[in-house]
Amino acid sequence: MLSWASAPRAPSDALCASRVDDPGYHGLVGLVVLTARPDLPANRRLVETAEKLGSRLWIVDATRTVAVAGGMLLVGDGTAVLAPQELGCVLARVGNWRPDSVLAALEVLVAGGVPTPNPPASIRVGRDHWLTMLTLSAANLSVPSTVAGADPETLAEAGADLGFPLVVKQRRSRMGVGVIRCDQRDHLEAVLDSLWRVGDEVVVQRFVGAGRVSLRLLVVGGRVVAAARFKARSGEWRSNAARGAAAEPYQPSTEDTQLAVAAAAALGLGVCGVDLLPSPAGSVIGEVNPTPGFQLLERATAVDVAAAIVEQMLGLAESR
Ligand SMILES: Nc1ncnc2c1ncn2[C@@H]1O[C@H](COP(=O)(O)OP(=O)(O)O)[C@@H](O)[C@H]1O
Ligand SMILES: [Mg+2]
Repeated sequence: MLSWASAPRAPSDALCASRVDDPGYHGLVGLVVLTARPDLPANRRLVETAEKLGSRLWIVDATRTVAVAGGMLLVGDGTAVLAPQELGCVLARVGNWRPDSVLAALEVLVAGGVPTPNPPASIRVGRDHWLTMLTLSAANLSVPSTVAGADPETLAEAGADLGFPLVVKQRRSRMGVGVIRCDQRDHLEAVLDSLWRVGDEVVVQRFVGAGRVSLRLLVVGGRVVAAARFKARSGEWRSNAARGAAAEPYQPSTEDTQLAVAAAAALGLGVCGVDLLPSPAGSVIGEVNPTPGFQLLERATAVDVAAAIVEQMLGLAESR
């Protein structure tokens, strides 16, 4: 049985992989990153950066927590508690692994008043291509023409009206997996029919520009802190880092900077990666990623993105 009512108010060792032997922990927890993958290098980098800045950041494996609605977050075997009033700021880094568990942990902390740069509702929008396009369109920002629907024949008809080539995306694709280019009608119908049979919901989107290139602008606290141009590897049209794309520094135009900042604001995300797709008529927003990878970007630009993220969290913690 969970003994949370009498639990010591400290994160358990098992859940704070970065600080397992911290003898200095006595009470107030500063910054918390919720993740389902505590061992990711990006998390380690955030911990080290916080230390350099003289503060403490705890990595909490959200898959090993229990969120108590209206209450607190139990960690580990329930022998420790993260109480909202003890936290300065929380950032959830939500990937493909157990996203709803990470969001549940975030939700209970945010409901308890813990500041966060990325509220749960905004993360949910950013993880869904349809909701992202809907939100950006409502804010009058440039996006590719996008349609959603279920029945494959009806959707193929609507998609074909946009003109080929088209991009079919699973609504929750990540790292380019589930993002399919269709050059002709029979291809589109086959893809939509197959995804319909496996039960995946999709959007169909106009193909922007020549493909293979996207611009990643990392927005932190309403400012673009780093930007890079991602180029797909040979034989690939998707410019995801995870698909082998190379990154090079690029100086964003004023228009691109304003577009990225406006996209982050429209979704309500304080930390995000905005992907712009270049086209002759100007950039359009391809995606707003609430959990951006930043290490390739750091290598390409020599910008300390981790420091920008930690400073943003510290600022929110101070405003408590
Ligand atoms: N409408 C589009 N036109 C041209 N290329 C696109 C379009 N949508 C996506 N892409 C390419 O596919 C990649 C992955 O798509 P994206 O929407 O970012 O999904 P994911 O969340 O899986 O990364 C993008 O980085 C870009 O290179
Ligand atoms: Mg992407």
